[in-house]
Amino acid sequence: MDIPIPYLEYFGLTEKPFGLTPDPHFYFETETHREALAHLRFLLGQKEGFALIYGDVGLGKTTLSRIFLSSLDRDMYNTALILNPIMDEREFLVAILKELGLEAKGATKRELFDGLQRFLLEEHRNGRETVLAIDEAQLLSNELLELIRILSNIETEKEKMLRIVLLGQPELVQKLKEPQVRYLSQRITVTYRLKPFSEREIGLYINYRLVKAGSKGFPDFKKNAVRRIFRASRGCPRLVNILSDRCMLALYSRSKESVDKQIVDDVLAEENTPFASIDGDAPSTRGYRVVVLSLIGLVLILFAAFFANLIGYW
Ligand SMILES: Nc1ncnc2c1ncn2[C@@H]1O[C@H](COP(=O)(O)OP(=O)(O)O)[C@@H](O)[C@H]1O
Ligand SMILES: [Mg+2]
Repeated sequence: MDIPIPYLEYFGLTEKPFGLTPDPHFYFETETHREALAHLRFLLGQKEGFALIYGDVGLGKTTLSRIFLSSLDRDMYNTALILNPIMDEREFLVAILKELGLEAKGATKRELFDGLQRFLLEEHRNGRETVLAIDEAQLLSNELLELIRILSNIETEKEKMLRIVLLGQPELVQKLKEPQVRYLSQRITVTYRLKPFSEREIGLYINYRLVKAGSKGFPDFKKNAVRRIFRASRGCPRLVNILSDRCMLALYSRSKESVDKQIVDDVLAEENTPFASIDGDAPSTRGYRVVVLSLIGLVLILFAAFFANLIGYW
């Protein structure tokens, strides 16, 4: 049974706007997700190769994998999504077969592999390609990475049969540099790092989620609240969701209608927030300030040099 959420009725919402599950129903296209999707679509046009999408926890990798696979035309593509690849080779093959809607017949790894190979070749002959996406790929063992390489080698004379997308945290990139997996790494043709959302996108994102959850413009998040949320979350949607949800609760308990900076600050000051260590300026703002200060410094030096020249100092 779902735990009742106290504020839904108060705000006239039909569902929780800031959940933590990667629900495609709430998908909001930001620049980084648009770019990532463009990279993945590019992979489909290739005759072979892997795509690698990486980014910090909570930036939307699982969401992206679901959106990408569900955007594919069912008449042209079979899709399989492995969400947690902590398994042995046999379990991995069974999981792929199940995702493809096949019965995992055969007791041995070899039989399972052969079954998958037959399916891929037959589907290819019928004009359908198969896309396999593996989430949390930083958890893949070297044995599985090797199996994935072998799977990716299933081919006709002209084409590989399986398009593979690896999604994972940044340590995946390190892992792929290890010598044992270099044969797989050499085949990665598309790489993209997910970026944090911008302040503007976060404002739109919060609003979009509220509307999706049934809001008719209430509550609203003031501009200064969005700025505060942007800075505290550093553009990470998972943290935006946690923070926005707590703001909604605070608003409800105070019987107010809009989230302003004060409410966000109060929520940030609460105990047990995951924000204590990350509160502060967003890196992009800091970078911007460094550039502005350097430019001011440069202008001052040029002025000094100009006047020194005028009074014949040099
Ligand atoms: N583009 C997006 N649109 C809507 N919600 C998103 C988007 N990106 C991330 N989220 C939300 O942020 C949270 C973290 O996303 P998730 O896909 O689980 O990240 P990751 O897999 O990178 O850890 C989830 O609640 C998800 O719904
Ligand atoms: Mg994830």
